[in-house]
Amino acid sequence: MNQPLIEVRGLSASLRKGKQELKLLDNVEFQIMPGRALGLVGESGSGKSLTTRAITRLLDPAFRVSGEISFRGDNVLKLNQSRLRDYRSTKVGMIFQDPRAHINPVYRVGNFLTEALVNNKNLSRDEAEDRAVSLLNDVGVRNAGDRLRQYPHELSGGLLQRVMIASVLLAEPELILADEPTTALDVTAQSDVMAIIEEQRLARGMSLLLITHDLELAAACCDDLAVMYAGHIVEYGPQVHLDPQHPYTKQLMDARPSIDVKSHRLPTLSFTRDEHERIQLASAQAQEVSV
Ligand SMILES: Nc1ncnc2c1ncn2[C@@H]1O[C@H](COP(=O)(O)OP(=O)(O)O)[C@@H](O)[C@H]1O
Ligand SMILES: [Mg+2]
Repeated sequence: MNQPLIEVRGLSASLRKGKQELKLLDNVEFQIMPGRALGLVGESGSGKSLTTRAITRLLDPAFRVSGEISFRGDNVLKLNQSRLRDYRSTKVGMIFQDPRAHINPVYRVGNFLTEALVNNKNLSRDEAEDRAVSLLNDVGVRNAGDRLRQYPHELSGGLLQRVMIASVLLAEPELILADEPTTALDVTAQSDVMAIIEEQRLARGMSLLLITHDLELAAACCDDLAVMYAGHIVEYGPQVHLDPQHPYTKQLMDARPSIDVKSHRLPTLSFTRDEHERIQLASAQAQEVSV
């Protein structure tokens, strides 16, 4: 069991813009062991979603991608179409920020949940519905039988996110990629949904890549943390929130609201050009040290 489930090495992705090459992911490296959770943390635009899209090979074809994404020893970037389909449908499951954008609004919840089971796993419609009801119960949806007959617009964001989680669990993936899974929800739904992901992950022994801009949230439910800045991982380890070394991680910590400290304005993340260059240099040095 000592082999990582997924290992990302030297992952870079760039786009050509006129004569310029925009490097949006820069030598990203991390690994997740089976059953463990990694929090990928960074501000908006730092490259977190691009990283998940690279892992599922859903980046726009205009991107030039290099490096290696090894899943149980197979390089995802080199899988042929049929193995890629298998990888996407059975090995990794994705939970997104806005479930409404990923659930067909004209399908009933039941159809959304059972379609893959009926088509790919050859279950009868009744069997598939039983599985769906049982999973909806697992993720805390009451009156699950009735929910199957509703349309997405009849459900709250929190309920719909649970439906999304249930649909991911139906495929029994080994790795869950959760990209800001609670950001679009109200505060009470946020903690409920996070608790469900956590509970199901532990119960099923799945690995998790949790993407968030919230370092403390990630620290609370992940074994390791990777802090991303401008397409690059600048700090990586189990305890980076306790003793942040990198100036960006420090600012990320300072920008969080606290109930102990009264302040009229929260500090925002901002760097002068010099500071930005210093950060890049610090990252490069940190990398040299870790090699
Ligand atoms: N298809 C694209 N074309 C051009 N730029 C893109 C594209 N997708 C993402 N970007 C840019 O890449 C950077 C990282 O994006 P993203 O991974 O979505 O950030 P986030 O950390 O907020 O998820 C951003 O600056 C974004 O504008
Ligand atoms: Mg994003």
